[in-house]
Amino acid sequence: MIQNEVLSRRRFLRQSFAFSALAGLGSLTSFAASKHSGSPAGSSRLLMLGDWGYENFEAQSRVASAMQAYVRQQNFATQALLMLGDNWYGPLPGGVKDVRWQSQFEQMYPKTVFDCPAYAIPGNHDYQRMPQSKVAAELEYAKAGGTRWTMPSLWYSFQFPLKNPQVTIIALDSNMPNPDGKQAAGVNFTLTPAQQAEQLTWLEAELNKPRTTPFLVVMGHHPIFSNGPHGDNKILVRDWEPLLRKHNVHLYLAGHDHDMQHLEFEGHPTSFVLSGGGGADLYPLLIDEAQRGPYAQRVYGFSDLEVTPELLTLRHLDEKGQLLHAFTKQPDGTVHFIS
Ligand SMILES: [Fe+2]
Repeated sequence: MIQNEVLSRRRFLRQSFAFSALAGLGSLTSFAASKHSGSPAGSSRLLMLGDWGYENFEAQSRVASAMQAYVRQQNFATQALLMLGDNWYGPLPGGVKDVRWQSQFEQMYPKTVFDCPAYAIPGNHDYQRMPQSKVAAELEYAKAGGTRWTMPSLWYSFQFPLKNPQVTIIALDSNMPNPDGKQAAGVNFTLTPAQQAEQLTWLEAELNKPRTTPFLVVMGHHPIFSNGPHGDNKILVRDWEPLLRKHNVHLYLAGHDHDMQHLEFEGHPTSFVLSGGGGADLYPLLIDEAQRGPYAQRVYGFSDLEVTPELLTLRHLDEKGQLLHAFTKQPDGTVHFIS
């Protein structure tokens, strides 16, 4: 593993110089190998995690405890949580009143530590009827008020932080219907083809709006590219990836594979971040970070996004709050690899 890490980082540094050369030829993306440390003054922070609402919540508890300890130790106010989907595995028999809302959300990520909105998007496990639609319960729970759970619709956008925003975040529903147009029957279901088309039209309109923040981020439960067992998503590669490229989206955030990743592609303006270690059983990686990276690890954890007008800093942390991987990104797309 250590050797793999060394190899992959060497490979990344080699790639870095190639990307820097490309930047001189007009690419918006450039990379440099350099060290950054410390928290910029006046920065805003949010934490994110995916695939967290597992029925056996031992690992979820460990990750949640690490998040709390991390915030206390670093003494910052978390200004948002991003819940990256697969919010509820297994039955949610009480729907909006189910006890799991208290034990696995409200108390697991307590308001005393995270006094901020928790922006949620649906994963494939939320698109189950157990017995009623769990995603319908999630929308209803947000609508009822008196909670930090924020899910105004299946897809929506918001700005971060609330005061003096620096990032526009477009939250999407990545539960695509079967390409044959037939909606899945039984417990599991998806967006309808009409919803899929409506969301895509809305996404293009959102991306075409004049930019009012230095940074643009898109999040969806399913990764577009992943080194994990779910692999690259053909529909998202077809429908969303060209839009991210065209509009110079800085980050695409996802979960779904139960691991932590950061993938960069030559000449692509978007950094692909996967934070799927929130609590569900971990998956093996199918592509090593040495082949496609710079970072992919089968590990529980969460991620920290720190924002200033000049810089995004993304950190992956493990279930003990230890730093796994980090990078920064400037408004012009320049990526600096930290660790
Ligand atoms: Fe998933």
